[in-house]
Amino acid sequence: MRKKYAAGNWKMNKTFEEGQILLSEVVNMVNDEMNNPNVHVILGVPFPYLSSFTKLVNSSKVSIAAQNCHPKPSGAYTGEVSVQMLKSVGVKYVIIGHSERREYFGESDAFIAEKVDAILAEGLTPIFCCGETLAQREAGIHFDFVCGQLTNSLFHLSAEALQKVVIAYEPIWAIGTGVTASSAQAQEMHKILRDHLASKYGQTVADEISILYGGSVGAGNAVELFSQPDVDGGLVGGASLKSRDFTDISKSFP
Ligand code: G3P
Repeated sequence: MRKKYAAGNWKMNKTFEEGQILLSEVVNMVNDEMNNPNVHVILGVPFPYLSSFTKLVNSSKVSIAAQNCHPKPSGAYTGEVSVQMLKSVGVKYVIIGHSERREYFGESDAFIAEKVDAILAEGLTPIFCCGETLAQREAGIHFDFVCGQLTNSLFHLSAEALQKVVIAYEPIWAIGTGVTASSAQAQEMHKILRDHLASKYGQTVADEISILYGGSVGAGNAVELFSQPDVDGGLVGGASLKSRDFTDISKSFP
């Protein structure tokens, strides 16, 4: 059975003290209230907190993620953080290819493919973000565009390697806007992506890949979204900053 995930992306929010409080609240609530063994909770926290927070998480239900990485193992890349560094402080997951990094920092599909390889080489799990703009959807090219992101960044992988990747479909027009994709829109794109994976790797492999939805996921829409056959959870921004909301989202799986 495909693994399900409730993944939080704190982005650039919370001081260290505020983050410690939020982390503690979420871990305690998840430990007490979430009992689905197939659901895993992930918290994507800012770089400076990773070393401390991986030690603070006293739960097999919760893991800490980084929000980015550099593909090189070391070198003259001022301000960057390597996968080896993340692994050395106990990080298990790395969010990559987020639309905000693609837009603000010019990250290409090829560069993100390098990050995928670096993360897999160290035995960590990439959470690969993809998604279209409103203009692309309105132009009717959104399916081809997002499938192209998978082709360009993932299709060099072997079937064995691909099965270690978590995909997060995040329509850019739904991120931070409060305008969530309908469950039908989410299911439609997730099915398209799974069929695209199957076209290269076969249906058995494609059916093993967890595809998360991101874009204004909240406690009020998570149940319907997560009930869709090809939606395997959420990558949650704003709502992950509130322990009650995020825990309720983590409990929203069928
Ligand atoms: O990575 C998740 C994020 O992009 C979604 O943000 O605030 O719309 O849940 P939000």
